[in-house]
Amino acid sequence: HGLLGEVWDDEMSSSMLGNRLRKVVQNYQAMNKYGVEFSGPGGVSGRPKLSGAELLCELKEKVSVSTLTSDLPPFSSLSWAATLPPAPLTSDLGPYRSCAVVSSAGSLRYSGLGKEIDSHDAVLRFNAAPTTGYEKDVGSKTTIRLINSQVMASDDHRFLSSSLYSSGALVAWDPAPFSADLTQWYNRTDYPIFLQYQRYRRLHPLQPFYILHPRFEWQVWQRIQDNMAEPIQKNPPSSGLLGTVLMMSLCDTVHVYEFLPSRRKTELCHYYQRFYDAACTLGAYHPLLYEKNLVKRMNQGSDRDIYTHGRVTLPGFRKLNC
Ligand code: C5P
Repeated sequence: HGLLGEVWDDEMSSSMLGNRLRKVVQNYQAMNKYGVEFSGPGGVSGRPKLSGAELLCELKEKVSVSTLTSDLPPFSSLSWAATLPPAPLTSDLGPYRSCAVVSSAGSLRYSGLGKEIDSHDAVLRFNAAPTTGYEKDVGSKTTIRLINSQVMASDDHRFLSSSLYSSGALVAWDPAPFSADLTQWYNRTDYPIFLQYQRYRRLHPLQPFYILHPRFEWQVWQRIQDNMAEPIQKNPPSSGLLGTVLMMSLCDTVHVYEFLPSRRKTELCHYYQRFYDAACTLGAYHPLLYEKNLVKRMNQGSDRDIYTHGRVTLPGFRKLNC
């Protein structure tokens, strides 16, 4: 291992962070904005550590990628219900053989991974991550773009007018209260996801556009907490992990790039912006540190792949024999 250098350690905890970030993370760990209640056997109460294969099966069995459809109450009785897709994402997209999930990490800069990323059958990108001007490092194919409601609502991102969002299918999400009652969420979203959705649909009626059922994000959250030895932030997982699990339900094999940092590890937040903050890679609001522990444990690729390519290899759910 000596020549390889360090790759992500699957036992990272908030105590290993620098002073400033540790305090931010601890604040979020104590806060409970979404009313998270969890019970039953969790890592916190001393559950035995599961193997990677066991974790994968747990994820497959306990998490389902669902999206809002036009026949789902309370949306079905709203005037704009017909703009929601009639069928769920998982019946419209895929199955794909090989997929790429492109984190937006600064370590993708100068990676030269563009060709490899584009060689996959489907490519998932996040939020405002561009390809134009960065093709050598991140490729140019976009099959699915996962966006959060904050990006949809922010003036800076020109969500309604920018061509950045026009390729592939869009999938949006917004943090809902933990005990997800869709009506309560509809009346109290974090950002105006439904207003922006309706506006976007009017401007781009032909582009496929899904909204994740908020149950999904909390199912994923529960898998992280149940498998960690300390309380994690009581906030939804980052787009990075949500997108990875989404692709695991559509693809035979999922390659995730620079979620676990390679030798190019940097405090540069995004490959497309000159902004530096270790919180982008280690998490503050999101339980990102623990997400990475989980992904490291499930990785079926080698540590060398992580070190040189920032690449993790995960099996799709259909490929698992549980
Ligand atoms: O910042 P944004 O959420 O748009 O980035 C997409 C995802 O990429 C994040 O949710 C996170 O999972 C991952 N990421 C990362 N390290 C970074 C930047 C992003 O792991 N430095």
